[in-house]
Amino acid sequence: MEPESRYREMPACYNDNETLACIARRSSTRAFDPMRPPTEEQRAAVLHAASRAPSAGAMMLYSIIDIQERTTLERLAVLCDDQPFIAKAPWALVFVVDYAKWMDLFAALELAADEPRGIRPPGRGELAIAAQDAVAAAQTAVIAAEAVGLGSCYIGDVVENAEDVAELLDLPPYTLPLSMLVIGTPAKERPVTPHAVENLVMSERYRRADAATRAAQVAEMDALYRPHATEPGARVQDIYHRKHMSAFMAEMDRSLARWCANWTGEGSLRV
Ligand SMILES: Cc1cc2nc3c(=O)[nH]c(=O)nc-3n(C[C@H](O)[C@H](O)[C@H](O)COP(=O)(O)O)c2cc1C
Repeated sequence: MEPESRYREMPACYNDNETLACIARRSSTRAFDPMRPPTEEQRAAVLHAASRAPSAGAMMLYSIIDIQERTTLERLAVLCDDQPFIAKAPWALVFVVDYAKWMDLFAALELAADEPRGIRPPGRGELAIAAQDAVAAAQTAVIAAEAVGLGSCYIGDVVENAEDVAELLDLPPYTLPLSMLVIGTPAKERPVTPHAVENLVMSERYRRADAATRAAQVAEMDALYRPHATEPGARVQDIYHRKHMSAFMAEMDRSLARWCANWTGEGSLRV
């Protein structure tokens, strides 16, 4: 088998595998059935599964904020780049990269009593592992939601408007809300979203795309995004203008600088 074709299809011997089928059928859900909000059992299953995600040193370097209040969802819809479907979701989970809980424990146990500068605040190293913890938990919640008949959608824009989000969710120093999910019963059948896989898996070393690989990438994306892609390279152009050069990305950039300062305690968003 050619290395690049290994992962294009699921090997037939796993066709009956329920876990892989669940992963394969998932797609982002942005329309929820208002008559069928998640049951307590479904919510508990999703949260329990999230807590079973791998965690660096089993330190659980994240917290999950469980949001069901309509006013909070409505405010988040505005703060997360004006996405009205967030306000209509029955449930949201914010995955907060969290070192505050460890700083509080270190302080309570007076572990830096002999250290004149106090407890060393978290830095980039802690951020790298804690962010992985938070996203691992979020993605485990996504798959668990699918497994119990719910749909979900990530809201990456939760890192925008740091000042307002910190106030809305009472986020202290040494935290950073990295991922948000909206979750509910899908209002309708969802077709699976095509995912481009050219230039995705590299054997043994990073391999920068050559002209032929770039051409294959462009062709694959244009084919997947037809009928929107009307001319060669249309998808790349679309991403450049709608994402790369967007106002929301500029806001994310600004806001993340504030969150990073909050993480290290150098520029707390709240006291
Ligand atoms: C980090 C991340 C952030 C995302 N943020 C948003 C968002 O703010 N709004 C939205 O509608 N979808 C968002 N999505 C969903 C993606 O658009 C979606 O995963 C992608 O189009 C692929 O579709 P699929 O999930 O149906 O396979 C996000 C996904 C990820 C992984």
